[in-house]
Amino acid sequence: MKKIFINPTYKYFLHGGDYNPDQWQDYPEVLKDDMRLMQLANCNSMSVGIFAWAALEPEEGKYDFSFLDKAMDDIYANGGRVILATPSGARPAWMSQKYPEVNRVTENRDRRWFGVRHNHCFTSPIYREKVTQINTLLAERYKDHPALIAWHVSNEYSGSCHCDLCREAFREWLKKKYGTLRELNAQWWSAFWAHTYTDWSQIDPPSPLGERCVHGLYLDWRRFVTDQTIDFYKNEIAPLRKFTPNIPITTNFMGFSTVLDYRAFAKEVDFVSHDAYPTWKGDESDILRASEVSMRYDLNRSLKHKPFVQMECTPSNVNHHDYNKLKRPGAHMLSSMQIVAHGGDSVLYFQWRKNRGSWEKFHGAVVDHVGNENTRVFREVSEVGARLKKLDAVLGTMTESRVALISDWSNRWALDNAQGFQKNDKKVHATHSKHYHPMWKRGINTDIIGEDDDFSCYDIIIAPMLYITSDNMIDKLEQFVKNGGTLLCTYMLGMVNENDRCHLGGFPGGKLKEVFGIWNEEIDTLYPNEKNSVTFNGVTYDAVDYCEIVHAQGAEVLATYNDDFYKGMPALTVNNYGKGKAYYVTFRDNGDFTDVITERLLTECGIVSDFDGVLPCGMTAHSRTDGENLYVFLQNFSINPLETSTAHTWVTVDWKETISGEITLDSYETLILSRKI
Ligand code: GLA
Ligand code: ZN
Repeated sequence: MKKIFINPTYKYFLHGGDYNPDQWQDYPEVLKDDMRLMQLANCNSMSVGIFAWAALEPEEGKYDFSFLDKAMDDIYANGGRVILATPSGARPAWMSQKYPEVNRVTENRDRRWFGVRHNHCFTSPIYREKVTQINTLLAERYKDHPALIAWHVSNEYSGSCHCDLCREAFREWLKKKYGTLRELNAQWWSAFWAHTYTDWSQIDPPSPLGERCVHGLYLDWRRFVTDQTIDFYKNEIAPLRKFTPNIPITTNFMGFSTVLDYRAFAKEVDFVSHDAYPTWKGDESDILRASEVSMRYDLNRSLKHKPFVQMECTPSNVNHHDYNKLKRPGAHMLSSMQIVAHGGDSVLYFQWRKNRGSWEKFHGAVVDHVGNENTRVFREVSEVGARLKKLDAVLGTMTESRVALISDWSNRWALDNAQGFQKNDKKVHATHSKHYHPMWKRGINTDIIGEDDDFSCYDIIIAPMLYITSDNMIDKLEQFVKNGGTLLCTYMLGMVNENDRCHLGGFPGGKLKEVFGIWNEEIDTLYPNEKNSVTFNGVTYDAVDYCEIVHAQGAEVLATYNDDFYKGMPALTVNNYGKGKAYYVTFRDNGDFTDVITERLLTECGIVSDFDGVLPCGMTAHSRTDGENLYVFLQNFSINPLETSTAHTWVTVDWKETISGEITLDSYETLILSRKI
């Protein structure tokens, strides 16, 4: 099996983070000491220049690269490498002042003033031109610099602009998609409330002052915003590609954030990079949190089905949660190894050094205001760096998953925006997490996929609340089951097409009724204090939030409701279809039923963890492989020591110790085990 490296010329785990020499130009002694401290912290990669535009171009057309020249040279001389940023995430004041068009316009059509960051127009030809100029200069200047290993384009692209240019671009996008207004009106069902459009110029993005009820419009606007951001990004990277064709390019994503469709965006980057700031609490609730965080990493790995870069995490606290608690001792090592366990080939921080002033001065950093290495956080960072140096064998290795969970941006946008059900909180993402957890706690690798992925590489696909099903999706699900796959879907399956227009002829739409052998007549939304119940294999489970009233039309009924007027109606069905099986769950549970039904699927398909021991609550085991060796990350997320055992003989990758039989993992401990396959 081929290993895949972020940059094949630098085969090391990347350890380091956001470094802002532009802010410290008046403190040469600090910049000098940074080099000494980077060595001590075992840091080898710095992301430089992310918000440095005002330093790089203090006046229009007047450039000063001196701080960056020095940083690139110093870092390289120090044995490190640079992930060089383009500065478009924040622009200089002179630009906003001189060219108001670069400032973003809100949904109320107010032009924003200079300030904050991440607030430019994605369409403005002037902003695009300014970005091209600065990026060209950066790429030309550093194209042969030996420190340069990757491009960090902009920062956490997000948000939308409602200026005239963006609105016009949206209309063009719609013309391309629908061809005719007739088709657009039909898909958006715009005859409703006399919304039929008779001219393209009548169409505007959703706004509290205008349209916010046409679901198809809302969905298309979200898609357009992704596409327009990608278009802006393509403009940004053109000079980088031209001058540095061999340097990989990324932009940092934010997990399951709904700001952009990262699955669409991932097609355009050379490797996926990701920022995450979990709210670790330091108690047993971290176990569920760890599951949620692992799912984010699995998403990022699955976006390109190869190792990803953790571009930002904090070595300790953040400053933007309601309560900015410190990471407890040991938690940083645990959470860093968790990244690697799920396919990450880096541990990079926001931020290297705490700023002296402004918004993020109290955000966690490797180097605190005290300015030396004598801090707990610095020592823990240094230990992570030392450990990463011992994991070369794992670098570039892949993750093999037989289970996949479908989580798709359009589906989430549409459901979150749907009028009906639980109007304000459909809990789509929470439901996905609930369905992911049974694999996580059993130490079973899981991919997080979407409609464009190849379904045939999985034995089990789990698709909770898959409300949007295009014809293509319906075909792919049908083929998957027909060819022997096991599919589990839940309430709200297949209600609308990709434009949020309901399927006619009964839910789930099209052939899915045959695949599952059911017809879903109604869905009951319960009040928060209400429940029904379902008995399955002699155990009774609460049914909460949603109960569908489903008729079996060929499916075997495995469980039924105990109460209300739909007592006795199916709660769980299974249908043999082709060579496979399609399970349908008609209700939401509190997690205990999800666990039991998932276990049944895993058992039927013979899917077990790559670690053979029983995993107690809080311990998990995820694996990577190079095709010859298996690397298992056995991790304890509990605040208590936990025990397990193994019948295999393993060797720890980092300390080369032999492990077999009984194993005790201290609280927050990670063992990195390897054996030949
Ligand atoms: C984001 C940004 C960083 C920084 C961190 C703070 O991820 O990309 O610039 O603001 O948040 O946690
Ligand atoms: Zn705009």
